[in-house]
Amino acid sequence: MDTLTLIDNRTGKKYEIPIQNGTIRAIDLRQIRIDEEDFGLMSYDPAFMNTASCRSKITYIDGDRGILRYRGYPIEELAESSTYLETAYLVLYGELPTKSELDQWTHDVTYHTFTHENIKKFMDGFHYDAHPMGMLVSTVAALSTFYPEAKNIFNADSRKLQTHRLIGKMPTLAAFAYRHSRGMPYVYPDNELSYTGNFLNMLFKMTELKYEPNATLERALDILFILHADHEQNCGTNAMRGVGSSHPDPYCAVAAAAAALYGPLHGGANEEVLRMLSVIGSKDKVPEFIKKVKAGEGLLMGFGHRVYKNYDPRAKIIKRVADQVFEVTGKNPLLDIALELERIALEDEYFIKRKLYPNVDFYSGIIYQAMGFPVEMFPVLFAIPRTSGWVAQWEELLLDPEQKIARPRQVYLGEEKRKFVPIEHRKTAK
Ligand code: SDX
Repeated sequence: MDTLTLIDNRTGKKYEIPIQNGTIRAIDLRQIRIDEEDFGLMSYDPAFMNTASCRSKITYIDGDRGILRYRGYPIEELAESSTYLETAYLVLYGELPTKSELDQWTHDVTYHTFTHENIKKFMDGFHYDAHPMGMLVSTVAALSTFYPEAKNIFNADSRKLQTHRLIGKMPTLAAFAYRHSRGMPYVYPDNELSYTGNFLNMLFKMTELKYEPNATLERALDILFILHADHEQNCGTNAMRGVGSSHPDPYCAVAAAAAALYGPLHGGANEEVLRMLSVIGSKDKVPEFIKKVKAGEGLLMGFGHRVYKNYDPRAKIIKRVADQVFEVTGKNPLLDIALELERIALEDEYFIKRKLYPNVDFYSGIIYQAMGFPVEMFPVLFAIPRTSGWVAQWEELLLDPEQKIARPRQVYLGEEKRKFVPIEHRKTAK
């Protein structure tokens, strides 16, 4: 067993701390004390910049080499040869499914695409201009009231059923939110279509008897969903695990994860990228915008990543998908601005020094807009496929004997003990 020898210079005492999987256990620091009264050392790591919260077998990322693998399979191979439903099965259950397993899985998910009719009453209750992400977060939480047996989280069959429901219903909830925002009638699932084909059907079907998805757009969305299926311990997944650790049903945990994903620094970035590109307006305005970013007047949305200090491998694939989509939809003029932004940023010391490269959100929004999605739908298009990752990570948490309810410590820097002050003697704080 590898070890770390620590000397506490306050006491001269020496400690042997075991090293396992490139980590030391923070709890091993507690033995380092100056006297019997001392609580012992803790590690302090705001935003978990250097803290592993769990041991996982789902997704591997190498930030320096721009590597992303789901259960050992490189994302490039899955994007090339797999489908989202097959990849979701892999992320959830650890192996690529056999033909019969995939047929059963596809049947089980497709069987659960419908939602309780009362969900439409939820949707109708939102303002006409309600953000679809706010609608999705609240309706997925509401699903927990329709399936009280989902609280039985240590029953494998119940978890499997809730997994089918969550993967099956997220596109339906998302599509209902979209149709509500457009003042259009809801479109029911067409279970003869593929996962993304049916999603496009529920979004864009008009008066035709049967919606026929454009095969290029259907496949492009499938690849985009594969790329968003999981991403180890990102902010949304951390929320899924944090909330999941107190053992509520998975619908409430997914709602918490989706709420975290909504943030503009996380999955909400794809929406902000499009707003940023629209504000820049044209290629010739890019240098001026970059100057503002370097002056600290805002972020280059869609750039940078906590883990990737190289090009996000998903962004490379998304750029290729864009070309296929634009053949069908016509080129999105914002693409030229994005390409110019990338060209300039990748040559500029400010971004190079900070290892800021395009991430998954930089190009995805340009495709979504070309496919006809309003920017408000972009984070929703991130949440749908990420549901497989959230549920996989949640299940891994529940089955991990080392995991307990998440309850971090703190460093208290507040007031020492003081006596209560009657109101007549109080002064306004400075
Ligand atoms: C996703 O974690 C995941 O895996 C997330 C995700 C997933 O699949 O789940 O990959 C999806 O969320 C992708 C990220 C989408 N967000 C954005 O595109 C928003 C813009 N990016 C930044 O907010 C930022 O890069 C983060 C949040 C993504 C990462 O932030 P970190 O790791 O906390 O880095 P930091 O803020 O400490 O930045 C380091 C330096 C700072 O400069 P200095 O203070 O050292 O001078 O880089 C600067 C930052 O100001 N910086 C940027 C920048 N991102 C970081 N400067 C300009 N533009 C940016 N985009």
